[in-house]
Amino acid sequence: MNNIVILISGSGSNMAAIARAAQKEAWQDKFGARVAAVFSNQADAPGLALAQRLGIANATLSHRDFASREAFDAALMARIDAHAPQLVVLAGFMRILSPAFVRHYAGRLINIHPSLLPAFTGLNTHQRALDAGCGVAGATVHQVTAELDHGAILAQAVVPVLPGDSADTLAARVLTQEHLIFPRAVREFFEGQGWGRDQCA
Ligand code: GAR
Repeated sequence: MNNIVILISGSGSNMAAIARAAQKEAWQDKFGARVAAVFSNQADAPGLALAQRLGIANATLSHRDFASREAFDAALMARIDAHAPQLVVLAGFMRILSPAFVRHYAGRLINIHPSLLPAFTGLNTHQRALDAGCGVAGATVHQVTAELDHGAILAQAVVPVLPGDSADTLAARVLTQEHLIFPRAVREFFEGQGWGRDQCA
């Protein structure tokens, strides 16, 4: 079984998009792939209830219960590895990962970031795009490497910035595209097309 483990911190809409694509496109029949588990570092993440409704095993592991980033990451790795995943997906997981975590999942760890990388790494991407006067914005699926938001780009989607946009309206427009490119990038992993191809939505 090609298990996918998804990490979230919030609403989990990208997680749900991947899980729904897996069902709709019969990933289990085609690739032996399924979303095996969802973990959140936030106990109140709405994505946990969403995972529950989708019939996916889910649990919270709070970083607040650990003395250091390394200790939390080690515990999380143990929980993840219980599912022997082929792919670990960061879907709005708002944690900086330790080098040991990134090394452990090298080549099978991907993230979605709400900007057109390499522009606007880090936080508050939509407001920063507005402040910079960007005419377009978007999202990027990329491999996770030691440097934050810098791994090989796997998929991107571009949306226009419209007159009167706020960070919220822009974020919502970008999010609809995230829900298309993220499941597609995961599917391509299992189709065996390999990582590292740049592509535009
Ligand atoms: C998404 O917009 C994702 O790109 C972003 O958090 C949101 C999670 O939404 N991720 C980051 O900012 C990572 N640095 P979701 O919980 O509904 O999928």
